[in-house]
Amino acid sequence: MSFPSARLRRLRKSEKIRELVNGVALSKHDFVYPVFVKEGIARKSEIHGMPGQHHHALHELGKLAEECEAAGVPGVLILGIPKRKNVLGSEAYNENGIVQRAVKQVKEKSELVVFTDVCLCQYTTHGHCGVLTKQGVDNDRTLRLLAKTAVSHARAGADFVAPSGMMDGQVKAIRDALDSSGFGDVGIMSYSAKFASSFYGPFREAVESAPKRVRGLPYLSDRNTYQMDFRSLEQAMREISLDIEEGADVVMVKPALPYLDVIREARRRFDVPLAAYQVSGEYVMIKLASQRGVIDEKRAFMETLTSIKRAGANFIITYAALDVAKWLDET
Ligand code: PBG
Ligand code: ZN
Repeated sequence: MSFPSARLRRLRKSEKIRELVNGVALSKHDFVYPVFVKEGIARKSEIHGMPGQHHHALHELGKLAEECEAAGVPGVLILGIPKRKNVLGSEAYNENGIVQRAVKQVKEKSELVVFTDVCLCQYTTHGHCGVLTKQGVDNDRTLRLLAKTAVSHARAGADFVAPSGMMDGQVKAIRDALDSSGFGDVGIMSYSAKFASSFYGPFREAVESAPKRVRGLPYLSDRNTYQMDFRSLEQAMREISLDIEEGADVVMVKPALPYLDVIREARRRFDVPLAAYQVSGEYVMIKLASQRGVIDEKRAFMETLTSIKRAGANFIITYAALDVAKWLDET
């Protein structure tokens, strides 16, 4: 019988030792909290498919912003749900639209870093992320509208606009528009490697943005013609590298947990800040399993978020941000 010569258990003998020798620790400064703001509601209401998350009323955002600041979470990502939709999604670039007003509120009441989601799917009747023609989603006609939307967010006071539509050239179109409108100091966080994922289900229900079936264009019942195919790592790297060339300040991988390899590889190849989005489906899986009593909510969030940071993300967009900030205070 021979005994092991390497005894790694010495490094695990106590929590203090484990803390000393282990590499990655979450901090509350690692998080951005996504905020759903819904036009025309009087007060907040819980989102049916996302326990613990709410549709917020515009006038309540000041309070929520203060809550985020008190918790130590540095930033929010504003997601709008307009009252009216139309084919061109014009509420997205209405200077007085729901996101534009929300940004002003949050900026008035806090010093949070404000990111805004720039896309058309919440604003179009068909639910697609761009302009729909007989040929499908028209990339270049969409760019103009995304640029307009981004400039309107910048005018409202956003620090970073975050294009999430996966249109080719969207970062450059937005960078040019921001620069020529005098917003050279407003940054772009690009949803660079955004995969066509089943994990966006609860979000689409929350913001009523699921793509509708289009007569004559059966393949448009999903977003597979613009969001990335999850089988490809190389395309994800091309998307990220193009976005950096086009002027992205921060790049993102989304979802997070099924794509830790993508985060890892992006970290290895690129020197720009890297964000990861733990999306609605990832959040809900943990929430519902914990409500069933089969996993521990706090430990599951700490474990998954740590793994995302360990893979190489500089920060994480997560619906659990406020809870995690509290948990980190407790330890
Ligand atoms: C809009 C957008 C989506 C998400 C963020 N911005 C949905 C989609 O692409 O259908 C998903 C976020 C989540 O699931 O938490 N394009
Ligand atoms: Zn979209």
